[in-house]
Amino acid sequence: PASDPDLVERARAAKAALGNRVFILGHHYQRDEVIEFADVTGDSFKLARDAAARPEAEYIVFCGVHFMAESADILTGDAQQVVLPDLAAGCSMADMATAEQVAECWDVLTDAGIADVTVPVSYMNSSADIKAFTGRHGGTICTSSNARRALEWAYEQGQKVLFLPDQHLGRNTAVRDMGFSLDDCVVYNPHKPNGGLTVEQLRDAKMILWRGHCSVHGRFTLDSVNDVRERVPGVNVLVHPECRHEVVAAADMVGSTEYIIKALDAAEPGSKWAIGTELNLVRRLAKAHPDKEVVFLDRAVCFCSTMNRIDLPHLVWALESLVEGRVPNVIKVDPETEKYAKAALDRMLALP
Ligand code: 13P
Ligand code: SF4
Repeated sequence: PASDPDLVERARAAKAALGNRVFILGHHYQRDEVIEFADVTGDSFKLARDAAARPEAEYIVFCGVHFMAESADILTGDAQQVVLPDLAAGCSMADMATAEQVAECWDVLTDAGIADVTVPVSYMNSSADIKAFTGRHGGTICTSSNARRALEWAYEQGQKVLFLPDQHLGRNTAVRDMGFSLDDCVVYNPHKPNGGLTVEQLRDAKMILWRGHCSVHGRFTLDSVNDVRERVPGVNVLVHPECRHEVVAAADMVGSTEYIIKALDAAEPGSKWAIGTELNLVRRLAKAHPDKEVVFLDRAVCFCSTMNRIDLPHLVWALESLVEGRVPNVIKVDPETEKYAKAALDRMLALP
């Protein structure tokens, strides 16, 4: 549905009143009504890199989810305040690894005698605590656009990688990009003693994958791929690497949200595409490419409910609060956590 014209006008007026004092970042999964007001749009990597691009802005309004706003706070100076228009915009995958669980896992690896040769790599989709754990133990952060480089770097440093918290991105990168076998990967289940693994399994593994996943991308199955190939003959299947391994293995192309957008921009008129990622982005791509056939990979609709929490009313409320001199929903990481999380994020930004 079209946005409420009154709210659109209020958002425009508040943004204009704030001028250079505000910098609005928008992840590709945001609603159209919100994306329209973003100064920069991007995937997680681009948004992390660009967060510090406007040091003169007092406020960064982050239209995305909590871990992204935390990362923006870590990567910007104390003079800049990061605002998340709805504090309930979290990420269920990031919540699947808590600091206590990860500390316990490290104890398990220590008892198995392998902590010294294990380098942690954490997906951007993790809390600041997990990023700090990673930094403390000499590891790096990665996003879906640089997972291969991050994992290769980490594997060169040690003999094993502990990958948190998305088992699918870890497995897909290890098998698809690095030539590892499925047997080189084991899954650590934080809800079971010893992660549900024997000491031998831990010692033999090259990749120890945390048992986390994205509930949005987890809905695509091999059946979704087979079904769309039948429905749309000649279709190119393009999926995000948070999808299960069998989906990624059956797809034609795999990449981050930014990669997906660029692939569509470069595609021939008349070509057909089935996209396996969040629906706001897929609908926007279909609208932007009327000369191509762009369909959602699955028959069922599949929004990220927490990304969708940031809607126009929340954005208007955040911007008008700033105009009135109140700074709402500030995301602030404590200095000790920030120091180590920043070390891990800086390592990612320095990857070749
Ligand atoms: P990217 O934008 O890095 O592809 O990540 C997708 C995602 O799920 C963010 O939560
Ligand atoms: Fe988290 Fe998945 Fe939503 Fe991304 S799409 S924010 S990984 S729940």
